[in-house]
Order: sequence, then C-alpha cells, then structure tokens
Amino acid sequence: MKAGLHEVDEPQSEEVAQLYRGFSTVVSRESETVYARICDGASQDPFLISLLSSVPRNQRRPNIVLAAVHFLLLKGASSPLASYFPTVQLIASLDGRGDDEISCGPFSSAPSTPAPPTGKDDPGNPFTEFRSFCKEHENEIATLLATRATQTNEIGRCAGILPALEVVTNDHVMPLSLVDLGSSAGLNLLFDHYGYNFGGSQIEGAVNSRVRISCEVRHGVISNVTIPSIASRVGVDRRPIDLSDEEEALWLLACQWPQDLERFNRLRLAIDLARELPETVSLIQGDLLEELPDIALSSPFDTHLCVMNTWVGAYLSVDQQERLRGILSAISYDRPVSWLFAESPYETPGFAAPASPGGMSVKGSTALVYDSIEHGVHRARRLADMHPHGKWIHWWNN
Ligand SMILES: C[S@@+](CC[C@H](N)C(=O)[O-])C[C@H]1O[C@@H](n2cnc3c(N)ncnc32)[C@H](O)[C@@H]1O
Repeated sequence: MKAGLHEVDEPQSEEVAQLYRGFSTVVSRESETVYARICDGASQDPFLISLLSSVPRNQRRPNIVLAAVHFLLLKGASSPLASYFPTVQLIASLDGRGDDEISCGPFSSAPSTPAPPTGKDDPGNPFTEFRSFCKEHENEIATLLATRATQTNEIGRCAGILPALEVVTNDHVMPLSLVDLGSSAGLNLLFDHYGYNFGGSQIEGAVNSRVRISCEVRHGVISNVTIPSIASRVGVDRRPIDLSDEEEALWLLACQWPQDLERFNRLRLAIDLARELPETVSLIQGDLLEELPDIALSSPFDTHLCVMNTWVGAYLSVDQQERLRGILSAISYDRPVSWLFAESPYETPGFAAPASPGGMSVKGSTALVYDSIEHGVHRARRLADMHPHGKWIHWWNN
C-alpha cells in the first residue's frame, strides 16, 4: 500500500490540515517545538495530508504519523532528522547497537546517563528532513499506520490516582479490586510502586522506587498519603501493550513526544519495573463496555470494586460514555462501586463530571472525579483538576 498515493478531496484535505494545525497548537503549549514546526509544515503539504488521510477515521490524528516516524528513528533508521529528536539521540547513545537492532536501550542506566540537548534551545526547523524521511520510508510508515494505534501510557497521571485511591479507601475499608479501563500497558495499575514528589523533600508512595513522579501542587496539600491495599489489578484494553515484546515497548515510547526527556526516561524506567513484576497485573484484550460486567462479577465480594479510567473517554462516543456510566449503575445494585476518572470534561459530557469547587475553571485541565455509586445512586465529587500528564494538580479535597 502506498499511503502517499491516497486520493484526498478538497474538504477532507482541509479537515486533515486543521488536525495538523490543532496539534501544533497543543504541542506548542508544552514547548514541543519540533513537533509544532513539523505539524505547521504538514498542514500545507499535500503529501503529508494524504498520508494522514490514509489512516482510519477513528485513529486519524497527527500523533500516529509522528509516532510512526519516531518509532523508525528509535529503531535506528539513519537520517539527519534524528538530530532534532533528543529521545533518539539518547537511545542511540545508550545502546551501542547495530543500526537494524531493535532495543529500548538499557533502561536501568537512564538516571546516570548524560542527557542530549533538552529541547530548551531552539532546535531549528525539521520540516524538510521530516518530509524527506516520510517519502523515503513511505511503505514502512504506511504499514505502521495500517497496523498500529496511537497508544500512550502516561504514568504522570498516577499523581492524581494515588491520593484519589486514598480517598476511596477512607470510604471503603477493604482491599481494592482495581480495574483500569483502557489500561494500555497497565502501568498505572502499578501506581504504588512509584515514588512521588508533590513539592518539598518528602517522597510519597514507594519511597525507594527508581520511578519518580514529580507533580506541582498548585492548590491544597498532598502529603502523608496512605497506600491502599490492593487485592487485584486488572486492565482492559482493545489493544493491550505486551511489554515483554521489544517492538511493543518501543511503540509505546515512540508515542511520546521527542523533547521531554524526563518524561521519556520515566516511562523507560516504568517499563523496566513492570517487566520485573510480570504477574502483578492481568491485562484483558477487549472492549471495555463488554468486558466490565464480567470483571465485576468475578471480583471477590470481600474486596471493594474500584473502576478507573484515565484519558480513555475521548475515544468513546457520548452514547458509549453514557453506557459506561449506566453499566456502573447496574453493577452498584449488586455491590458498591467506586468510579475514579481523570478525563477532559469537554470530551466526556457523558460522564457528567461535577464542576470544580466554586465553579473555578482551570485552563486545559483534566477533571479528576470520584463517583461513589450504590443502588444506582451516584455521589460524584471533583477531587482535583490536573495537567493531562500530571505535571501539576489543584487538589480540592482538603
Ligand atoms: C490515551 S490511551 C490512555 C491509556 C491509559 N489509560 C493512560 O492514561 O495512560 C487510551 C487507551 O484506551 C484504549 N481504548 C480506547 N477505547 C477503548 C475501548 N472501547 N475498549 C478498550 N480499550 C479502549 C486504547 O487502546 C488506549 O490504550
């Protein structure tokens, strides 16, 4: 399949150009200049518009084209484009591998590794090299676009999950049967294996963990968090990532942005840690709406069922979002259920997230909501507003 030969009519071309422009705005806000400039250029380039148009509509976001290129570079494809990707330079410097050998790099060496440029200096404009790379690797990219989905697993979100689960266990003094809907590789189910710095010198969670999550607390206080007791950890995903497979792990890394080395390294260390805990999380492949009722039934009744989803709702239609809420209501007639979600309220109207206290609106925030459900009655509280990757949090629950 030659994706570049895909016919694109005028309205579709404008729609895809708009996707590139929109993504450029999003990544600019996060200082990801390399991706911002690539997307600006791509929004005016018929070949790159055609490439993204070849992707099925439910995956048609610039992220997938960018991830496909990032993946090939991380795998060792030689190109001047690599010099714009600090992540690629890092892996190349760590690996000492042959060009066609696949590896995520020696994970555990990450903290002591001298980092390549962090992207704080102006990286220049990589667009011309990016376009040439896509032309040169058109067939490989087309195969990736046809077979992969954009898949991230953002453990920074655990900065909200950790204190939120403490709130749940204060209400329900039982070990938790924890279910993560849309769990990707299941890394957020290992939240209690990571150390957290909420500002100051104190570390919450697993104090000695080599996986460290730093989160700026902009409102409220998060300290002395009690780690809940977890009876079981189940993840459901349409395409669960198998971290024992090097290519899968590399794809997860490739879905990250190339200039935030701290985030990239944190994920590498979390992958490493998860590989040391292979039996801890059970991952189920399937649709979350279909799998949830059976998972609830098989969770022991001497545990408290806690279902969570983080940045998954945007992939569901409003009707599916409402169905998920309805399934949780139905389960709650058999047993109390806690529903924890961290989602964009604008993309998930079907979840009926309550407003922030005092109607405070936090620009670009993810709403962290705890909904305690019994006999079909929902008692939802907005615990926090947080950065989509957990860089900061407004903790309302003090
Ligand atoms: C943006 S990722 C978020 C992953 C993870 N929750 C996190 O916060 O890092 C969304 C995940 O939801 C999964 N997903 C989307 N719709 C799904 C569905 N209907 N059933 C199961 N998984 C789904 C995708 O495969 C993907 O792994």
